[in-house]
Amino acid sequence: MLAIPDVLGAEAVAQVRGIIDAAEWQDGNATSGHQAALVKRNEQLPDDSAAAQQAGRIVLEALGRSPLFISAALPAKVLPPMFNRYAGGQAYGPHIDNAIRTRGEFRLRADLSATLFLTDPQDYDGGDLIVEGTFGAQAVKLPAGHMVLYPASSRHRVEPVTRGTRVASFFWVESMVRDGEARRALFEMDRSIQVLGARVGQGDTAIVELTGVYHNLLRRWANS
Ligand code: NI
Repeated sequence: MLAIPDVLGAEAVAQVRGIIDAAEWQDGNATSGHQAALVKRNEQLPDDSAAAQQAGRIVLEALGRSPLFISAALPAKVLPPMFNRYAGGQAYGPHIDNAIRTRGEFRLRADLSATLFLTDPQDYDGGDLIVEGTFGAQAVKLPAGHMVLYPASSRHRVEPVTRGTRVASFFWVESMVRDGEARRALFEMDRSIQVLGARVGQGDTAIVELTGVYHNLLRRWANS
């Protein structure tokens, strides 16, 4: 699980909120399978609405400018971002996201789930995203514009929102590297190379060699 700060700056958050807050929302179960409908209580922007598409483009462009997102996710495909909101005790009970996501002709295997927070934590109570992992459950509630990336295979839930409204963007990523452990090792290696490179210079022979090893591992493990 990884928090990615400042995917959207304050201005971009305000822009996205301006677009989506003015739009028509629908029951979050309008497009859900019957099992999700048992645990899901929220509202969503219809995928095909102009507002969702316009705001989604802003999120996608921001993701493309985030080296941390690219290094951690090694994205092959990103589902066009969707938007949801919770208020008045709404919640999403424990579930695991569907493996395959489709949008028209577009189809991806969900390797990573992402939530981009669009409300500041002081503006609502509850609404923590709880993600269960090998080391127990972790609660996530980030400032507006920050994003969390977590394995789509994890069981997770959203706690009831008891005050205010929790607005977020959510989407799935198919990674070029399907295996989570391999992806994690590449991410850690990339981070170490960046840190060492800053210390000894990017042109240092060992840094150049390590970067080559990173790419050779990526070549072994990635499907483009
Ligand atoms: Ni989910």
